Amino acid sequence: MSIRDEVKPAMMVDSSGDFVFPADFLWGAATASYQVEGATREDGRGVSIWDQFTAIPGNVQRGENGDIAADHYHRMPEDVALMAELGLNAYRFSIAWPRILPQGTGTVNERGLDFYDRLVDALLERGITPFVTLYHWDLPLALHEQNGWVNRETAFAFADFAEVVAQRLADRVDYWTTLNEPWCSAYLGYETGVHAPGIRDKQAAYTAAHHLLLAHGLALSRLQAYRRRSTQLGITLNLAPVYPANNDLETLHAVELADKMSNRWFLDPIFRGKYPEGLFDDAGIVQPPIQDRDLAIIATPIDFLGVNNYSRSLIRARVAENGSGEAVARDYEHIAAEPDSLYTAMGWEVYPQALTDVLVRVYRDYAPRSIIVTENGAAFADHWDGDGSVSDPQRLHYLSEHLQALGKARIQGVPIRGYFVWSLLDNFEWAEGYSKRFGIVYVDYPTQRRIIKDSGRWYAAFIAAQRGQLPPGVECNNRTG
Ligand code: FCB
Repeated sequence: MSIRDEVKPAMMVDSSGDFVFPADFLWGAATASYQVEGATREDGRGVSIWDQFTAIPGNVQRGENGDIAADHYHRMPEDVALMAELGLNAYRFSIAWPRILPQGTGTVNERGLDFYDRLVDALLERGITPFVTLYHWDLPLALHEQNGWVNRETAFAFADFAEVVAQRLADRVDYWTTLNEPWCSAYLGYETGVHAPGIRDKQAAYTAAHHLLLAHGLALSRLQAYRRRSTQLGITLNLAPVYPANNDLETLHAVELADKMSNRWFLDPIFRGKYPEGLFDDAGIVQPPIQDRDLAIIATPIDFLGVNNYSRSLIRARVAENGSGEAVARDYEHIAAEPDSLYTAMGWEVYPQALTDVLVRVYRDYAPRSIIVTENGAAFADHWDGDGSVSDPQRLHYLSEHLQALGKARIQGVPIRGYFVWSLLDNFEWAEGYSKRFGIVYVDYPTQRRIIKDSGRWYAAFIAAQRGQLPPGVECNNRTG
């Protein structure tokens, strides 16, 4: 059986024959400002840490940057038309902070706000729900020059920024996430330095993480002031279930440790108002500066949790021995999964069960009011031969399997309200530059032509099937179909 045969879009029904996904489920695709917009020097946009980071040789593959990216800033109307063609009913995008406040604080650049204003109107005209991410990593450079997220003041600057955006858009935008993946901002930006601002200082990373969380909590109360009945406020975390690679006791302990250092680092303060026990000791750092009310602010209730999931973590214990052969330190390492696993171009294992497991676990342990999968998708090497289609059977298969996995979590009672493919368009994949394509729409960078990939067509048919609108030639396995 070919991949295509296995993955005919189906209306998902549970054993009682009820639809797994309700009619108002959000079926979307996601992007982020620096990855798609380009136009980095236009209409008064200030400089971001990614403009600076990409200019340093060695930071990004082939020295690429987001100056042009997918030129979405200029092609926005065309891109919204594409979303409509795909039948998406939601679009997740981020607001470039340096477009709104070029210096990070102070003077507001109205032309920056105008762009998102036009985008929101264009989406609403097509019946597409706008879903805003306030921070997807493009910190204004002026704030970095005052120590960025290591400086507590940046959290307050973020809350001011959130309010400026809400003032302009909250009359039409219902869905808001404060931050995208603060783990990446803190860990990749400040500990390993592979992302902007490229700092390598573990202590700084944990301080940055605390200030990011504080920024989230402070922004929530500002956004609350603009709440309408339909408003939904949340945060997006990158979460991956951690599995043991063997049954050694050491490895089972290491699984707990790895889960704490990745997932629980952010989940616990947000939902329980405290950091996991031993987090800072285990990281080998001193506790970052936490002030009295910080954790209460961070634990301000949210309407939904955004979950980004791509794969799983498979780990085993790494036990260091001293001279006499005694185990002296417990640590863990990520290991490549089973040899016959499929991997994406990022080297990430294709493991759909991870999506079910992470959603079930988060709901069981933290009981968010609802969950929205704000990113899920895959990079593969796509080839366009110049005509109207791009064959991407591996991505199509990935999406099909993950949508099944999503359905499984819903059947188990997890209140999932939406799903966004990463990404609508091929785009600037951070340190990987343009070498990794995640889009369900291909972008031919020299001409900026967009070509819907087979996975995009399949997703469109899947969405249509969920709505009971079957495109021609697509079979339906629903009992009423
Ligand atoms: C996530 C990021 C997103 C994209 C995908 C592949 O961590 O939020 O911008 O890079 O990974």
